[in-house]
Amino acid sequence: MKNIYILNGPNLNLLGKRQPEIYGSETLDDVEKSCSQACGDNFEIKLLQSNHEGQLIDWIQEARDTTAGIIINPGAFTHTSIAILDALNTYEGPVVEIHISQVHKREEFRHHSYVSYRADAVIAGLGIEGYAAAVRHICSL
Ligand code: DQA
Repeated sequence: MKNIYILNGPNLNLLGKRQPEIYGSETLDDVEKSCSQACGDNFEIKLLQSNHEGQLIDWIQEARDTTAGIIINPGAFTHTSIAILDALNTYEGPVVEIHISQVHKREEFRHHSYVSYRADAVIAGLGIEGYAAAVRHICSL
């Protein structure tokens, strides 16, 4: 069975408590449940979160050869991390970048994404529904 990695960056451990007016009241556990329901029996969801850039890079490297795809919400590293972009460039499978909020409606510094140079698809503004949509997309490939 192949895994799908769902990687979450800094502060997303507080999803549900953190600025609910922007990110909603659902938690990462809710994301995991909806993603598990969205994926067929042939795939296993592995949802991971870290506040540390290096840990996210280690998981991206670990995903090589063992996963059907990576779904990544890099949090604020979206806008700053060439190192995460470089790690994703070593990965050959599909990559979906996801943002819970509609980043293009927000501050200008959120409009630029290093990860988008590599992502095959970008979802922003669908709330946590975006994660399940990304899972369905990867399962359909
Ligand atoms: C986010 C948007 C980022 O700008 C922000 O730094 C986050 C969350 C989102 O899911 O909307 O931490 O990636």
